[in-house]
Amino acid sequence: MAKSRVLTGITTTGTPHLGNYVGAIRPAIEASRNSEIDSFFFLANFHGLIKCQDPKQLHQSSKEIAATWLALGLDTDNSTFYRQSDIPEIAELTWILTCITAKGLMNRSHAYKAAVQANELAGEDSDKAVMMGLFSYPILMAADILIFRGEKIPVGKDQIQHVEMARDIAQKFNHTFQCDIFTLPEAVVGDDVAVLSGLDGRKMSKSYGNTIPLFTTEKKLQKNINKVQTNLLEPGEPKETEGSTVFEIWQAFANEDQIQYMKDQYAQGIAWGQAKKELFALINDEVGGARDRYNELMANPSLIEQELLKGAEKARQHSRALLAEVRKAIGIAAMV
Ligand code: TRP
Repeated sequence: MAKSRVLTGITTTGTPHLGNYVGAIRPAIEASRNSEIDSFFFLANFHGLIKCQDPKQLHQSSKEIAATWLALGLDTDNSTFYRQSDIPEIAELTWILTCITAKGLMNRSHAYKAAVQANELAGEDSDKAVMMGLFSYPILMAADILIFRGEKIPVGKDQIQHVEMARDIAQKFNHTFQCDIFTLPEAVVGDDVAVLSGLDGRKMSKSYGNTIPLFTTEKKLQKNINKVQTNLLEPGEPKETEGSTVFEIWQAFANEDQIQYMKDQYAQGIAWGQAKKELFALINDEVGGARDRYNELMANPSLIEQELLKGAEKARQHSRALLAEVRKAIGIAAMV
């Protein structure tokens, strides 16, 4: 049986945090090592540009994300790890797909609709500061997926619509040009993928400012964990695991025995300070080794660059071949 092709992009804004690690990075690294899976992971820096027009920040975020994935043991031989902007075929395909995508489809994109709605609520012109990049974002994402014939697309719930649009666009292309060049992708949103709560108990997310960065110093990690919201129950008073962010994060890092152990501790009234100390030790055990590699990579960016160029070379073998087919199908190939 052919290996299934898993493909996903990471928008290069922000610094990886524990929520990213548990929800996306850890499962992706596991997939990268699985010989049954052909995985494509990339730094979506063209997507980053939609939100972030600060060159230093965009660059820094790309570097941090790449270093994080590599430090955590991404297998770049068994998988393909690259930077979106190193694949010129993606940009070309984006234009071609733009020509066959209905504006009406893009009007329905929720990222664009949310921006319009915010403007209307503020009594502004509905298109105020809405860039074409935001409007046609799903077409770029479709090109990312279709250029590599991605089949399974692991994404968060907010991205399901975009993967469905990629599917629509693939069908539209195949139909318009009477071909079967594009494979129809499918979003994979694992139920078992943990969504972690942040410092304030809401979903850990950069937009809420409640994240715990993955690779800070031990001291800062401990400090951040100490900031996780708890209730006012005293040491010795039994505590509920349900709804406890400390317990939830514990669960995301613990094995079954450790989960049971902490349940017992809660029932016996463990002090919050103690629970947080143990939580820190558990997380630090899992990510401490990678932290050293991360710091080394951040200090030697040429090591990161080498990996990305290796990935781009591998990826382009696929994207060049596919784009050649597309060019032919639409009538822009060479004369002879
Ligand atoms: N838009 C996705 C996000 O914000 C990132 C992304 C870009 C992506 N291109 C992709 C995800 C292609 C999956 C496939 O999370």
